[in-house]
Amino acid sequence: MKTVAVLVGSLAHNSINRQLAKSVEKLASGRLHFDYIDLGALPHYNNDLWENPPAVVLDLKTKVEAADAVLIVMPEVNRSFPAIIKNTLDWASRPYGDNSWTGKPLGLIGTSPSPVGTAAGQNQMRATLPLYGFVVMGQPEVYLQFKPGLIDEDHEVTDDLTRAFLAGYVDKFVAWIDKHGKRAAQIAAAE
Ligand code: FNR
Repeated sequence: MKTVAVLVGSLAHNSINRQLAKSVEKLASGRLHFDYIDLGALPHYNNDLWENPPAVVLDLKTKVEAADAVLIVMPEVNRSFPAIIKNTLDWASRPYGDNSWTGKPLGLIGTSPSPVGTAAGQNQMRATLPLYGFVVMGQPEVYLQFKPGLIDEDHEVTDDLTRAFLAGYVDKFVAWIDKHGKRAAQIAAAE
């Protein structure tokens, strides 16, 4: 089974994006193992800390390097992406020449209560992703407007159309990882 390092761009206990991640995990059951990264445990990026790197940073790099792919599940924050996602991406991209993200297949999805459904935030996020060396899945896009009850306590998507759409996303993400995952492993082995 393939392992996916999951970055949820919210620290809120009842985060709707964490609910979305859990529902996608359920739809991917038996095909993908989700390894949730603790974004809140990381300090703010500071180059000086590499002199004696915090254990949480080294743990992040180990988890990312062990993963076959990365999934970002994020809210939109003032029409942009969450700072905790950028902080996490920056940490594992260093030290210089030891970028843990290189070649990893990446999916990007998100939900918000507004009809924008994180589209503006994701578009800003997408502009930064190639620099980290990700192999970004462009389609399908998931801009999901969250409504109360959309995902129940068992992480089931209650709306049939939305569940089918997300199941289709999972199928394509699994295929994307199968197609591009080997490339990431080859790049990492060559470095
Ligand atoms: C928001 N929210 C928001 N929603 C949106 O659709 N576009 C936006 O630009 C913003 N901006 C924004 C800024 C700040 C500082 C906050 C606190 C909130 C609303 C946001 O989508 C909503 O709070 C979601 O519930 C956040 O997702 P999580 O944390 O529940 O996963």
